[in-house]
Amino acid sequence: MNRDEALQLVRSRLGDSATTKHSLAAEACMRKLAQRFGEDVELWGLAGLVHDLDLDVCQNDLERHTVVGAEVLAAAGAPKAVIQAVLGHNDKATRVTRMDKALWVVDPTTGFITASALIRPSKSTCDLEADSVKKRMKDKRFSAAINRDQIKACKELLGLELDDYLALCIQAMNEIRVELGLAGAGAEHCP
Ligand SMILES: [Fe+2]
Repeated sequence: MNRDEALQLVRSRLGDSATTKHSLAAEACMRKLAQRFGEDVELWGLAGLVHDLDLDVCQNDLERHTVVGAEVLAAAGAPKAVIQAVLGHNDKATRVTRMDKALWVVDPTTGFITASALIRPSKSTCDLEADSVKKRMKDKRFSAAINRDQIKACKELLGLELDDYLALCIQAMNEIRVELGLAGAGAEHCP
C-alpha cells in the first residue's frame, strides 16, 4: 500500500470531512517525527493517514473503532506494523514500537493545534508558536475534551520535551495549512 492508495481509501470512506483533515495532519506530524528519529518516514506517515479510516462506520461505536479499520487495512494490503499502530491508538493492541506510541501521542495533538490556530486573529498555524499552545493546554475550559496528558506523554514515550514536540507538530501542520483549512484569514497575517 503506497501513499496514494492509502489517501484514496481514506477519501473514499471519509470524503472531505474534518476527520480526513485530522488524518492528513496526523500523517504530517508522524512523518516529521520519523524524520527526527531516523525512522521510516513513509511507514509512519501511512499509520497517521489511515488511523481513523473506519470512523465512517464507527463514529458512534468506539469499541469497534480500529478493529473494523484493521480488517479494512489488512484487506487493502497495509503493512502489519501500520495495522498494529492503528489498533494501538484505540487501546485495541498494546503499544510496543516507537511508532505505536507516537501515533497515540499525535492523535489528540492535531485537534489541539487546530483549535489553538483557529482562535488566533490569523486563524492559521502560520504565526502559531509552541508557547501559545502550551498556554492553552493550561486553560482547562479550552477544548476541554482533548486529553492533555496524552499530548504531554511526548516526554515519557518519545523522549521529546513538550516545546520541542509541539513546535515540530506545528511546523508539520503549517506546511500543509492550505489542505487543513488553516491558511488563515488574510495575507496581513500570513504573508
Ligand atoms: Fe485520530
